[in-house]
Amino acid sequence: MERARLAPRALILAATAAMALWLAAPAGAQAPRRPRPLENIKTLKGWNGDEVRAEMRLMTEALGVKCDYCHVQGNFASDEKRPKHTARRMLELTMALNAESFPTHAPAEGQSKLGRVTCYTCHQGAQVPKQGAGPGAIAW
Ligand code: HEC
Ligand code: HEC
Repeated sequence: MERARLAPRALILAATAAMALWLAAPAGAQAPRRPRPLENIKTLKGWNGDEVRAEMRLMTEALGVKCDYCHVQGNFASDEKRPKHTARRMLELTMALNAESFPTHAPAEGQSKLGRVTCYTCHQGAQVPKQGAGPGAIAW
C-alpha cells in the first residue's frame, strides 16, 4: 500500500528531472541563431533586420492584424499578398508626412523609426481607419 502511494511521486520526480535536462541541453549546445538576411526591401532601404522586424510588430499592432495579413506563411520576402503592396504605399505616405512636418522628431527607444506619425496615428488598431461620425454628429 505504502509503495503504491510512493511510486507515482517517484515517477513525477524522474519526469521533472528529465524535463529539466531536456530544457537545459540545447541552450549550451547551440550557437545563437542568426536571422536570415532580408531579400526584398524596397521601401525601408538602409534599415537593418532588427529595425525592420521591430517596425513589423508595430504595424501589426497598429492595424490589429497578424503577420499573415500581409505575408505568405513561411516566406516574408514574397509579394504575393495585396495588403503588403498597400502597406508599402502606406509606409511611403507615413515617411513623407514625417519628413514634411516632423523632420526633427527623434524616436525614443522602442518607438517607431518612421517618426512622430506612425501607422497607429491613423489606424488605432483597425485595418481601415475610422472615417468620423459625419456632419451633424456634433451640435455646435
Ligand atoms: C500591414 C502589412 C504587414 C504586416 C502586418 C507585416 N508585414 Fe512584414 N512586411 C511588410 C512590407 C510592406 C514589407 C516590405 C518592406 C519594404 O519593402 O521595405 C515587409 C517585409 C518584411 C520582412 C523582410 C522580408 C525580406 O526578406 O525582404 C520581414 C522579415 C517581415 N516583413 C516580417 C514580418 C513579421 C514577423 C510580421 C508580424 C509580426 C510582419 N512582417 C507583419 C508588410 C507587413
Ligand atoms: C495619415 C493616415 C494614415 C497613416 C499614417 C497610415 N494609414 Fe493606412 N490607411 C489610411 C486610410 C485612410 C486607409 C483607407 C483607404 C481607403 O479607404 O481606401 C488606409 C488603409 C490601409 C490598408 C488597407 C486596409 C484595407 O483593408 O483595405 C493597409 C494595409 C494600411 N492602410 C496599412 C498601413 C500601414 C502599414 C501604415 C504604417 C506604415 C499605415 N497604413 C499608415 C490612412 C493611414
